[in-house]
Amino acid sequence: MAETENRLALVVGGSRGIGRAIALRLARSGFDLWLTYRRDRAAAESAQAEIEGLGRACEILGFDVADDAATRAALRDRAEARPPHAVVFNAGVARDNLMVWMTKEEWDGVLRTDLDGFYHVVHAVLFPMLREKRGRIVAISSTSGQIGQAGQVNYAAAKAGLIGAVKALAREVGRKGLLVNAVAPGVVGTEMTADLPMDRVLPLIPLQRAGTVEDVAAVVGFLCSEEHMYIHGQTIGVNGGLAM
Ligand SMILES: NC(=O)c1ccc[n+]([C@@H]2O[C@H](COP(=O)([O-])OP(=O)(O)OC[C@H]3O[C@@H](n4cnc5c(N)ncnc54)[C@H](OP(=O)(O)O)[C@@H]3O)[C@@H](O)[C@H]2O)c1
Repeated sequence: MAETENRLALVVGGSRGIGRAIALRLARSGFDLWLTYRRDRAAAESAQAEIEGLGRACEILGFDVADDAATRAALRDRAEARPPHAVVFNAGVARDNLMVWMTKEEWDGVLRTDLDGFYHVVHAVLFPMLREKRGRIVAISSTSGQIGQAGQVNYAAAKAGLIGAVKALAREVGRKGLLVNAVAPGVVGTEMTADLPMDRVLPLIPLQRAGTVEDVAAVVGFLCSEEHMYIHGQTIGVNGGLAM
């Protein structure tokens, strides 16, 4: 039996792309899932069916992480009744524009989802997790938050904010047995990157390929595993060498 058998993982933004691959990876290693989405219920149901096909339980929850009250309503009582062992904050959006043209809506839209969402989710589940005195929190940041990217001042700010939040939270909760880390993907083939000019991007990546969703999921799965885990407060790049 896997060490994680019958434990619960919350994957926020688990219906598509990287989050879906993370949810499947965790299901394969024995976790039951709470899988969340915002709009695309059909995608969430298809992920749920795949997870149930692996023999794990999966509950799907629809809410907008930018909405504190909705996030709390979806998660707080559930977490009190059954605290998740692993929480992966993966929900994120990009609304790229050069700073001179960036609208307040573009700035706010990204910060509210990608950074405020982390507060809303973690705050809703942290007390019951602390009572368990063990667990994992993983935030999905980005290479953009580590080294910046033109046209992404809003996104880079939010993703760098996650890295700072993870470090501070790691210092708060480490002694309670909660391990907190960030994973920073580079360019990964999902809907979010579908419009990128890959002929110009690939020469910047030493491994000469875009990452796959499984590349990211493997690292998150490792961080959520039990074995000899001494990684805490770190940001692990999954970027093919794009940033070193
Ligand atoms: N793809 C990349 O190259 C790349 C690189 C670095 C970092 N990342 C980060 O990795 C994460 C996943 O990216 P991805 O490419 O897999 O994205 P994606 O395919 O667009 O999937 C995003 C997921 O997040 C959910 N979501 C988005 N906004 C939400 C909100 N306000 N409330 C609740 N759920 C929300 C979506 O649900 P719905 O479909 O229902 O809206 C979906 O499940 C993001 O945080 C992204 O910033 C991606």
